[in-house]
Amino acid sequence: MKVTPWEVEGRIDYDKLIKEFGTKKIDDALRQRLERLAGESHVMLRRGFIFSHRDLDLVLDDYEKGEGFFLYTGRGPSGPMHIGHLLPLIFTKWLQDRFGVNLYIEITDDEKFLFKRELSWEDVSRYSVENALDIAAVGFDPNRTFIFRDSEYVGHCYPLLMKIAKKVTFSTAKAVFGFTNEANIGQIFYPAYQVVPTFFEKKRCLIPNAIDQDPYWRIQRDIAEGLGFKKTAAIHSKFIPPLQGTEGKMSSSIADTAIWLSDDEKTVSKKIMKYAFSGGQPTVEEHRRKGGNPDIDVPFQWLKLLFEPDDSKLKSIEDDYRSGRLLTGELKQLLIEKLNRFLTEHRERKEKVDIEKYTKTGRLAQKMWESYY
Ligand code: TYM
Repeated sequence: MKVTPWEVEGRIDYDKLIKEFGTKKIDDALRQRLERLAGESHVMLRRGFIFSHRDLDLVLDDYEKGEGFFLYTGRGPSGPMHIGHLLPLIFTKWLQDRFGVNLYIEITDDEKFLFKRELSWEDVSRYSVENALDIAAVGFDPNRTFIFRDSEYVGHCYPLLMKIAKKVTFSTAKAVFGFTNEANIGQIFYPAYQVVPTFFEKKRCLIPNAIDQDPYWRIQRDIAEGLGFKKTAAIHSKFIPPLQGTEGKMSSSIADTAIWLSDDEKTVSKKIMKYAFSGGQPTVEEHRRKGGNPDIDVPFQWLKLLFEPDDSKLKSIEDDYRSGRLLTGELKQLLIEKLNRFLTEHRERKEKVDIEKYTKTGRLAQKMWESYY
């Protein structure tokens, strides 16, 4: 197993990751407290897809005391977006809707340019614009959301960026990210920028993300209080598995592991039918006799983590599959229909996005946090 912000490989043992990263499991009591304050449950929480955290309990304490908190998440524009990238954003929207808080979304064009040898500045620029539309299409509150691109916004952040950079030694960066002598100097500097938005407000920051991004928050938590800010909190999701199986994650680097937000109905259907790893038996007769295994079945896992939010429907799909009543092709078809509906609705929202609305909010917020310099 390998999990870094740039690589995720092997069979992922999430309990082990919690230990290695020094985060905490979201136990039933904490989940129920979050759901109670939110006024409802969320499918990703309920089904254990959102599984780990740092200081989520303190965020909820602040909220109950009326001190509030704010949200921060991001996207590295290395290419078009797949459904994996959308998952933390969907959960972020839920948090924003339920708690009525500000949200900052960083588009790290600099990061992807520095870390992906094959990408030109023109490539990351194009993807930044395109990705921002997909992000806005999730439907965040335009009055409380600011989407910004690192290279464009850097002038406003530079004093803060310098204060952060001065506090992080090369030896810390090496220890946290494993940089070697081959790393370019931009890569070594970049983590300072990913920390910047955690200081956009004096309130506690809560970061929804998949667990691969956690190393950045370790750095933030080391230096925050010394700079007069609170340690950031984070809430971590697992990875949506690649189409082909349960190892690694759905990844932009390997096209056929992913369902892209731009995939049309036929492509989705073809990919699921051809690539989605099945827990079914090789023949219909055998499947009817022995049943399938939903625990390793990718279409079932995708339905479970988001696409079939109705618990009783999911349960009957699971029972039918285990008993052999439901065939692999039928299960795949269920996912195809759900996915295509989801993607069509997403693209319809994307068509209507007014991106200006999400950059204007930033100008307002900026006044507030610039006063901290
Ligand atoms: P990026 O673009 O690699 O990923 C964006 C977000 O999607 C999550 N993610 C996944 N979640 C579930 N299943 C998957 N298969 C999957 N693949 C990726 C990532 O964890 C991330 O939350 N450096 C960041 C950009 C960034 C950021 C942030 C992300 C800047 N600030 C704050 C989260 C929070 C990056 O390249 O993300």
